[in-house]
Amino acid sequence: MKNFQKNVELQQRAKQVLPLGVNSNFRYWGEGITPYVKKAKGSHLWDVGGNEYIDYRLAFGPIILGHAYDEVDEKVIEEVRNGVLFAMTGELELDVAEMIVEMCPGVEMVRTACSGTEATMHAIRVARAYTGRELILKFEGNYHGFQDHTLWSTYAPAEAYGNRRSPIPIPASSGIPRALGQAILTLPFNDFEGFERVMRSYGEQIAAVITEPCQGNCAAILPQPGFLELIRQKTSEYGAVFILDEVKTGFRIAKGGAQEYYNLKPDLATYAKALGNGYPIAAFGGKREIMSIIGHGVSQGGTYTNNKPGIAGAWATLKIMQREPVHETIQQRGTRLMNGLREIFDENGIQAVVSGYPAMFSFAVGIDSMTCQRDWTQSDRDLYLRWAEAAMERGVMPDYDPREPWFLSYSHTDADIDRTLEVYAEVVRTVK
Ligand SMILES: Cc1ncc(COP(=O)(O)O)c(C=O)c1O
Repeated sequence: MKNFQKNVELQQRAKQVLPLGVNSNFRYWGEGITPYVKKAKGSHLWDVGGNEYIDYRLAFGPIILGHAYDEVDEKVIEEVRNGVLFAMTGELELDVAEMIVEMCPGVEMVRTACSGTEATMHAIRVARAYTGRELILKFEGNYHGFQDHTLWSTYAPAEAYGNRRSPIPIPASSGIPRALGQAILTLPFNDFEGFERVMRSYGEQIAAVITEPCQGNCAAILPQPGFLELIRQKTSEYGAVFILDEVKTGFRIAKGGAQEYYNLKPDLATYAKALGNGYPIAAFGGKREIMSIIGHGVSQGGTYTNNKPGIAGAWATLKIMQREPVHETIQQRGTRLMNGLREIFDENGIQAVVSGYPAMFSFAVGIDSMTCQRDWTQSDRDLYLRWAEAAMERGVMPDYDPREPWFLSYSHTDADIDRTLEVYAEVVRTVK
């Protein structure tokens, strides 16, 4: 049994000064079960009580190489000794921009930022400025950060979304101006027919269609063959900007992210997370013709957009990715883990769907297929959570939110995968 007392004590202390006792709502798992972390190295993480876990959360995806990855940290330390912020441009950030352009097929020009939220916010402004239109089309269950423009229909009970033919956009928080609801259209992911219909009705008013390549914030539901291509085709036809939100998939599912994986060139793409192995860095970029309007009546910037830890973190992370078999290794180990879980479900007669990519996958229990969030809401989320709790007791940590994928890093070993499968075999057999 894990000793959770120290976590509980810290939660009580934290609640005095931090709403919910955390610095982001998603880090609150509940009373007495919210972990507080002490340290992490490689694929392992220790909470404040000294309990050790194989970490499959990886901070919601940024940690692509492994926690406290020496070569990255050393580059950051070397660079910050010469100052962290100048509000002027340095050579290191040019190297990073060139590497992003080289690695990501559709990116001809890029600007950096500090978080995925900033990247999507900027991309949406640029798309609106470029088209002179205001409507944004997004898909239910996709999350594009905390900015108000797209924090709609990220999660709501399926009934609240209304009929598939005319979905109701649901703001994900109080405080989001109702007026922004006039500028957003929503649809179930993978709804080919609905998408064509909406484009026929509104195509010429739509500034941007934004989507994650797979539903990285809803159980890693994959795009059905042809869906992303249909978005590409219809946005071109109607002169709307196609924004591919690669904050989770970028530099993770392949060196060049989903653009490389699906051989797809959106107009703009957004990045963060795996770009810097945990350091605060993001980017958005795409076609030269669109990006070139920045600075010509289109405002974009930020004091910290070239912060040295973020830039140096990205510099070292990208260099390692270019040099070492990071993605191949993750692909091989992640495939073994996904297949191993499938076998465990089969052996125990459990209906489940394992979805996603070896570097980023999830599973849903009690259903055998899912194409959108409405399908996923039919899955047995309570059982998922009971398994997650039992796994954590045994030293394996997936996220407590079943929408959140499992992530793998270059540091996850075959022994980690073996242990994880051993734990899940036991958990699935015994926890009903
Ligand atoms: C697809 C996607 N876009 C944007 C964001 C927002 O990124 P950040 O948390 O860095 O603001 C996230 C965060 O999880 C994300 O998954």
